[in-house]
Amino acid sequence: MDDTVRWGILGTGGIARAFALGLKHAPGAVLAAVGSRTLDNAQAFARELGIEKAYASYEELARADGVDIIYIATPHPMHAANSLLALGGGKAVLCEKPFAINRREAGEVVALARAKNLFLMEAMWTRFLPALAEVKRIMASGEIGTVTQVHADFGFSATLDPEHRVNKRELGGGALLDLGIYPLSIAHALLGKVENVQAQAVMSSTDKDNAVDTTTAFVMKHAGGTLSVCSCSIRARSSSELIVSGTGGSIRMHRMFHLTDRITVDLQDGSSRTVPTPYLGNGYTHEAIEAGRCLREGLIEHPLMTHEDTLALMALLDRIRGQIGLRYPSDA
Ligand SMILES: NC(=O)c1ccc[n+]([C@@H]2O[C@H](COP(=O)([O-])OP(=O)(O)OC[C@H]3O[C@@H](n4cnc5c(N)ncnc54)[C@H](OP(=O)(O)O)[C@@H]3O)[C@@H](O)[C@H]2O)c1
Repeated sequence: MDDTVRWGILGTGGIARAFALGLKHAPGAVLAAVGSRTLDNAQAFARELGIEKAYASYEELARADGVDIIYIATPHPMHAANSLLALGGGKAVLCEKPFAINRREAGEVVALARAKNLFLMEAMWTRFLPALAEVKRIMASGEIGTVTQVHADFGFSATLDPEHRVNKRELGGGALLDLGIYPLSIAHALLGKVENVQAQAVMSSTDKDNAVDTTTAFVMKHAGGTLSVCSCSIRARSSSELIVSGTGGSIRMHRMFHLTDRITVDLQDGSSRTVPTPYLGNGYTHEAIEAGRCLREGLIEHPLMTHEDTLALMALLDRIRGQIGLRYPSDA
């Protein structure tokens, strides 16, 4: 392939639009095509975002010429099937979080990408933000001493509409898979392998066959002898911060830590400093740039968001779900 990376977007909802806007700031990226379940949606999306090709089905997009990589932007339960479809059409894949509903589905997708030697990555965009790189740099510098714990939280008050995907079990609803994946993923990225996890949740109803989790908290013990305390909620506008603490101080990523343009370092001696960490475009730009770089270099996974990382995160989500009694139709 030449230096241009030709993107296709599968699905035309909220995050598809945000990603399309972010892509405009990624050098060498062209948004070449969109696929939707309906021609009307595909054409409207294409018109709005200046996309040349609009396909009336996901299958057509997966088969299309002139597309190198497909960004999967459908609800969680469709992620695995849509990723398999795109890989089957010979396309690289960047798939929204959570990567699949469970570890089993995730394993099937990773296996196909490996078999076909195609790039595949979970769209965990926070991993590529300059703020996180700066947090890692400060941790490694020793400025906050020996790192012992992470607190990570993500919560907002979501719609109560029972038909919206966040409240609907058939669409993978609930706080854990939608929001809890962020604290989980960032704690894993910063503290490494998880040895044990313990979770509690508040469910939307006592009807086990329809309930989703509205608030979930979990504590993880990491292999290096560190602890992370994580929480998520679709019923609480929480501070949504990340705090990394060590023997000599702490680092704080501010509200909605996935989109922070500054971090704060507080030291044991009472001093404090703020470090600007500006991001490109709307923040999604960084993951698009990194996926493009992998395609140009012929990599099938990104070293900062590997297949093994994704599989480990999916296995942890399964364990947490087992503890809080959260099941989805595709677990059967
Ligand atoms: N990275 C982030 O910051 C971020 C933010 C929000 C969401 N997400 C993730 O992105 C995914 C999509 O979220 P969203 O908020 O964009 O959802 P959304 O607005 O509901 O859009 C989902 C799109 O998926 C397609 N779709 C296929 N089957 C569907 C079905 N049965 N019901 C509804 N839509 C269906 C539709 O596109 P067509 O009609 O065109 O086929 C729809 O527009 C979720 O997995 C979520 O976790 C990520």
